[in-house]
Amino acid sequence: MRLRGLILSGGSGTRLRPITHTGAKQLVPVANKPVLFYGLEALVAAGIDEIGIVVGDTHREIRQAVGDGSRFGARVEYIPQTQPLGLAHAVQTARAFLGTDPFVMYLGDNFIPGGISDVVAEFRKEQPDVLILLKRMPHPERFGVAVLEEGRVRQLVEKPLEPPSDLVLVGVYLFQPSILEAVDAIRPSPRGELEITDAIQWQVDRGRRVTPHVIEGPWIDTGKMDDLLECNRVVLDRLPEQRLGTVDAGSRLIGKVILEAGSQVSGSTLRGPCIIGERTRIVDAYVGPFTAIYHDVLIEASEVEHAIVLEHTVIRGARKIEDSLIGRHVVVERGIALPQAHRMMLGDHSRVELP
Ligand code: DAU
Repeated sequence: MRLRGLILSGGSGTRLRPITHTGAKQLVPVANKPVLFYGLEALVAAGIDEIGIVVGDTHREIRQAVGDGSRFGARVEYIPQTQPLGLAHAVQTARAFLGTDPFVMYLGDNFIPGGISDVVAEFRKEQPDVLILLKRMPHPERFGVAVLEEGRVRQLVEKPLEPPSDLVLVGVYLFQPSILEAVDAIRPSPRGELEITDAIQWQVDRGRRVTPHVIEGPWIDTGKMDDLLECNRVVLDRLPEQRLGTVDAGSRLIGKVILEAGSQVSGSTLRGPCIIGERTRIVDAYVGPFTAIYHDVLIEASEVEHAIVLEHTVIRGARKIEDSLIGRHVVVERGIALPQAHRMMLGDHSRVELP
């Protein structure tokens, strides 16, 4: 059975502002690789190489990062969605690309470290109308929630105030082309979106075969900072060590430290798991566990731990930065001017916690 892949990378990313004021939330790096790339790789690993990416306002950036897909062993086509009117609307928009093939829909900001090859194999074998991935989660009200009865899906509700179960919808769905009929039949939800949850419920109500697959391994929706840091932690734990940068005699590397090409470490202590990006310099500093410093960054005379730092940022003389997501081209430095004070220029929706 030939399957296509549909990755959803439109939307606005309000929960990761201000980072996503200027960039796509699907391109925020996890262990120095855009989260979207892990999804692409998971599809290719499951034998799916015809991939459509639904894009919105951030389409330029996404096209530039992914290109024609050949780097991933895939053929990628871009599907512009004029407005983020919902996941089911994205499916409608992709109709021409999907044709009459079954497909896997993958939300571009979702991450499943264990990949999706086993569920894709199950879908190919059993050929249900829909196969949904579920996971037991605390705070199910943040997600779509499923109710099962005798191993079958009975009810699906999108972000219910009072969740009827703790089984939430993971952002990976496997569909037969019959979903195209369902997305046309439903009406917008109270939040004004055409919900894929409602389209699947529509099929449940008509007695179609909607199969649940409860996953035990980790799954992370990286749409919020704490979840993104958690995802970074999980991935750093799994990556192999690699030392492509230079380290001077005055530095100590403890545990798994990944140095990307052209990185330079001098007079510093790095305690892994952590990753230092290309051409990034760590000078007289401490980088602690679960930290990903992206490309072209300077960390000098500072301590950074359990954090993600994006490109071209400078952190100089900062006593301790922890549990943080720091954007591109940011400067954090110790000032010498009196009176001693916190001097800041912060964008809209920034958040600073002072000691
Ligand atoms: O992460 C899992 C959850 O994803 C599920 O539990 C929910 O049932 C499902 O509705 C969805 O909820 P979110 O509200 O978190 O979805 P979000 O708006 O973050 O969009 C998910 C991805 O799809 C994201 O990469 C943006 C993209 N998207 C979203 C919309 C609304 C589009 O490409 N087009 C759209 O119109």
